[in-house]
Amino acid sequence: MKHLSSSFQLPCGVTIRNRLAKSALSEAIAEPNGRPSEKLFRLYEQWGKSGAGILMTGNVMVDKDHLVNANAMIAEDEAFLDDFTKLADKAQANGAQLWMQVNHPGRQAPVDLDKAPVSPSNVKMPSSRYLEPRPLAEEEILDLIKRYGNAALIAKKAGMKGAQIHGAHGYLVSQFLSGLTNLRTDKWGGSLENRARFVLEIYRNMRKKCGDDFPLGIKINSADFQRGAFTEEESMEVIQLLDAEGMDLIEVSGGTYERAAMVGTMQKESTKQREAYFMDFIVKVREKIKCPLMLTGGFRTVDTMESAIENGELDFVGLGRPFCIYPNVVNDLLDGTMESCHVPDLKTGVDKLDLSGALQTPWNVFQIARMGNGLAPDPELDIWYVYEKITGKKRPVQ
Ligand SMILES: Cc1cc2nc3c(=O)[nH]c(=O)nc-3n(C[C@H](O)[C@H](O)[C@H](O)COP(=O)(O)O)c2cc1C
Repeated sequence: MKHLSSSFQLPCGVTIRNRLAKSALSEAIAEPNGRPSEKLFRLYEQWGKSGAGILMTGNVMVDKDHLVNANAMIAEDEAFLDDFTKLADKAQANGAQLWMQVNHPGRQAPVDLDKAPVSPSNVKMPSSRYLEPRPLAEEEILDLIKRYGNAALIAKKAGMKGAQIHGAHGYLVSQFLSGLTNLRTDKWGGSLENRARFVLEIYRNMRKKCGDDFPLGIKINSADFQRGAFTEEESMEVIQLLDAEGMDLIEVSGGTYERAAMVGTMQKESTKQREAYFMDFIVKVREKIKCPLMLTGGFRTVDTMESAIENGELDFVGLGRPFCIYPNVVNDLLDGTMESCHVPDLKTGVDKLDLSGALQTPWNVFQIARMGNGLAPDPELDIWYVYEKITGKKRPVQ
């Protein structure tokens, strides 16, 4: 695998040993106060031996009052610096580079965790699992920008090798970018230039705090796949703005938790067969920017990955779910032990449930928890068992 195993130098000067990256996977096994736990150390020790060039952490929260799940890691001050340092040491002991993915859920914060969600505007998620968010005041926006920067600096001080803004999947940065969720009439909303101000200021704050030689990236949607929301054309423009700022790595994904394109449940069968859900978009991006590109979503066969790098369509292949059931996936792909890393097709047979992708995350989080507990993943895990566990309801009689 000549191209996949070749090293790559980022614009900031840092070299990554190969072209395979673990994309961010929310682990949901931190201590209840957000401190990296023994389970996380065990998990990252294992992923650190996977052979990956880059390991993105699951999304780490910038504010303890606004969480994606009850056991997310939190980096809002240096209270857990020693623990993040231990996490970095475990993950990086065998040559992988750990980056912290930095995030705030905005309106996409479950009601049991967030009784006062915030967002650019008061546009509610169309589900009773979420409350209507309160629009952020200007000084809160400025505070949040600093929080993203502080988290990146904590990553750097902990010895991690990079930080990534979570700008995808309908979380706060995404909410600012989308005309559906950002109805503001001040300088943070309206035109695309205004909607992009939040993410650009976050990037500048991170860069100012972490310096020119620290790798900084973003995960961004190719589109939100919803009427009136962030479009491909808008994404292309924002990517060009980020490129001009000097970003080191732009990872392309797509969808939100209302339209789960990121895990492929909405894609046509032909797109899934072809792998790499957002390939058409990234090829267009490639023509317009010089920033290195990573593509995540659907990659499964080593031949497809190798030719994407060989053809210069992208620089890094991102893998998510394969890391949940093949902990040694990169070594196995690179040395020919595995030719592909297909994951179970998690179907319940209930179309609404399957299309929503709602069980994709919890099923995989169960696998992550097993690894955190020192157990091997269980690819046979029954999807209905996961359904019953997370909903507290019995499976429907079919
Ligand atoms: C359990 C689970 C947790 C995830 N957590 C995150 C996350 O914290 N941040 C993020 O950007 N994407 C997250 N994703 C999306 C993945 O990074 C990736 O984009 C998606 O799984 C598609 O890649 P794949 O087809 O290789 O799985 C998550 C996906 C799963 C299955």
